[in-house]
Amino acid sequence: MPIPWTRRDASAPRPEPPPAPARLDPGPPSDHPAADRATGALATFAVESPRRTLAELVVADDVRARLEATLARIHHHETLFVEWDLRSIEPRMTGAAMNLYGPPGTGKTLCAEAIAAHLGRPWIRVSYAELESKFVGETSKNIVAAFAAAREAGAVLFFDEADSILGRRLTSVTQSADHAVNTARAVMLTQLGDFDGVVVFATNLATNYDAAFVRRIYAHVELPLPDEPTLARLWARFLPDRLPRDPDVHPAALAARSLGLSGGDLVNVVVGAASAAVQREGTLRRVQLADLDAAIVHAKRAKRDVGSDPLAGPRTSTTEVVPLVEAPLDVQRAAAEA
Ligand SMILES: Nc1ncnc2c1ncn2[C@@H]1O[C@H](COP(=O)(O)OP(=O)(O)O)[C@@H](O)[C@H]1O
Ligand SMILES: [Mg+2]
Repeated sequence: MPIPWTRRDASAPRPEPPPAPARLDPGPPSDHPAADRATGALATFAVESPRRTLAELVVADDVRARLEATLARIHHHETLFVEWDLRSIEPRMTGAAMNLYGPPGTGKTLCAEAIAAHLGRPWIRVSYAELESKFVGETSKNIVAAFAAAREAGAVLFFDEADSILGRRLTSVTQSADHAVNTARAVMLTQLGDFDGVVVFATNLATNYDAAFVRRIYAHVELPLPDEPTLARLWARFLPDRLPRDPDVHPAALAARSLGLSGGDLVNVVVGAASAAVQREGTLRRVQLADLDAAIVHAKRAKRDVGSDPLAGPRTSTTEVVPLVEAPLDVQRAAAEA
């Protein structure tokens, strides 16, 4: 009944190593997963050991506090739901689903991986787009399989790019695509309700969620673009000691110049600036403020010209529909129950 998951303290013994990567119905190896999906082969899920930690995540204090409170719900699950009897008011709340939202590159994926590490669990990373199949029943079946894989491995289940499933239905999509999305959404809700473990969703879109998900997900945590003090801390992290650079290249100066960029953007800026510097010779072969300024301009331009617009509506499915009656039986059953 309770999530048997506890914080892994540095001093505590490590839990059993996760089982060898489990793949559901792996079938013959393929170099063409996209082609497999087109022909109806099911998605497979790799169970991975997390390599990132929460200590790596640089966020403002209020974000950190919100994350810690969110994790407390998991650490103290037994106290909250058994000892303090919260299950008497919500008997179905056996698992924990949270949603990380914010612009691209703000650390959502890093955070999900770090949460798995924090809980001493492996993680399964599923890009929601990978689950979509032109066979409507198979999208649902892939969702069912993802939960089954997580259950079997005791893994944190991470749905990246979850906006297409969390978003409210749009009226502009065709009826058939609408139907496909709704079926998948219903199956996702059923699976969430039956799952005893931890699910983390990530989405770039903060608005327009389906109300059923907003309610079923116990915490929505925003990872916003970093403010100036947070940018300075990110810069301090992203300038390795061994990176040759001019003395005026320091975090405070860079923070003021890079407002509007995400942590992920800063990584690209550093690599871009260092790549410019490495081509020079002699004493000039080191990163100058001008290299970083140029890379920051490029990053800002790229965001404006080719980046995603967080205010745009959620992506909608372009899935073609194959009738549910042609879907495998367990999918039909799951869809009917949902
Ligand atoms: N808040 C952050 N703290 C530390 N590193 C970050 C942060 N945000 C982004 N990064 C860096 O940028 C990379 C990409 O971030 P990612 O987690 O993929 O962002 P998102 O999933 O929100 O798009 C990370 O692997 C990390 O190196
Ligand atoms: Mg991500």
